[in-house]
Amino acid sequence: MSFDAERYRDDSARAWEAAAPGWVRHHARIGAWAAPVAHWLVEAISPQPGQTVLELAAGLGETGMLAAELVAPAGRVIVSDQSAGMLDGARRRAEALGLDNVEFEVLGAEWIDLPLASVDAVLCRWGYMLMADPGAALSETRRVLRPSGRVALAVWDALEHNPWARLPTLALSENGIAGGPGSGDRPGPFTLGDRALLRSLIEDAGFTEPHIEDIALMRRHESFDELWEFQLDVSQAFHEAVMSLTEPEIAAVRATLRELLGPHTAAAGTIELPGRTLVAVAEA
Ligand SMILES: C[S@@+](CC[C@H](N)C(=O)[O-])C[C@H]1O[C@@H](n2cnc3c(N)ncnc32)[C@H](O)[C@@H]1O
Repeated sequence: MSFDAERYRDDSARAWEAAAPGWVRHHARIGAWAAPVAHWLVEAISPQPGQTVLELAAGLGETGMLAAELVAPAGRVIVSDQSAGMLDGARRRAEALGLDNVEFEVLGAEWIDLPLASVDAVLCRWGYMLMADPGAALSETRRVLRPSGRVALAVWDALEHNPWARLPTLALSENGIAGGPGSGDRPGPFTLGDRALLRSLIEDAGFTEPHIEDIALMRRHESFDELWEFQLDVSQAFHEAVMSLTEPEIAAVRATLRELLGPHTAAAGTIELPGRTLVAVAEA
């Protein structure tokens, strides 16, 4: 690690806590965009009634709650995240869905505070690449899994396959502003977007025969203004970069982004932004 890992962990914890209300606000859009990934991951672990499933870096627990219905009535899902704010949102979702076999735990994924071989399967959608030491998190995942238990995970593919993040970052850099998703040398959404790297991380943690695929996704927005608000609310990197600017600088970034989004914008003003994620399953 060539960066200050402790400082990164503190910054990341703070940033995700701050992002939690935005994730709750935009939950429906995030859920619709990411649903194919949740379904793939849950199918990959094939949850059985009576099992215990752990979701790491769960955010609002979208993926784990899909598994909750499949392990019911005797089985349970532990929805975990480092952010208490995210888990509050997850708890409210579980109540609204009437799920009574979901537990919520504040857990750091690099040191999972659970006993050895205590869960049957682990789910983690878009979490490992954000950790200071993803290898440690994967080793911890294997430690808490029962022998032959599966981990199913998603990490974003490389930035070039993800215009939803590349274009906002480009709008900043074209105006001489650093920052935005996918920039800098710290862990971030795209740092594991390489199949060979992902495979070796999974194997180095002791898992066998990882199977890796990619899934194409489409994020839909009603208008440019709605996309702008979503981006500010959901991406801490973009939020921080924009909040440091003057009004005229913000206007310039908005104008550049609007232009960059041209090819993805329909006559009615609606916007469709493609993306691509890697998904993997492996056995402990
Ligand atoms: C991109 S969001 C994904 C949320 C959710 N899994 C989803 O797919 O909607 C990343 C989540 O990872 C959590 N996270 C990041 N680093 C973590 C760590 N070291 N331990 C536990 N959670 C972490 C954040 O708090 C945040 O909720």
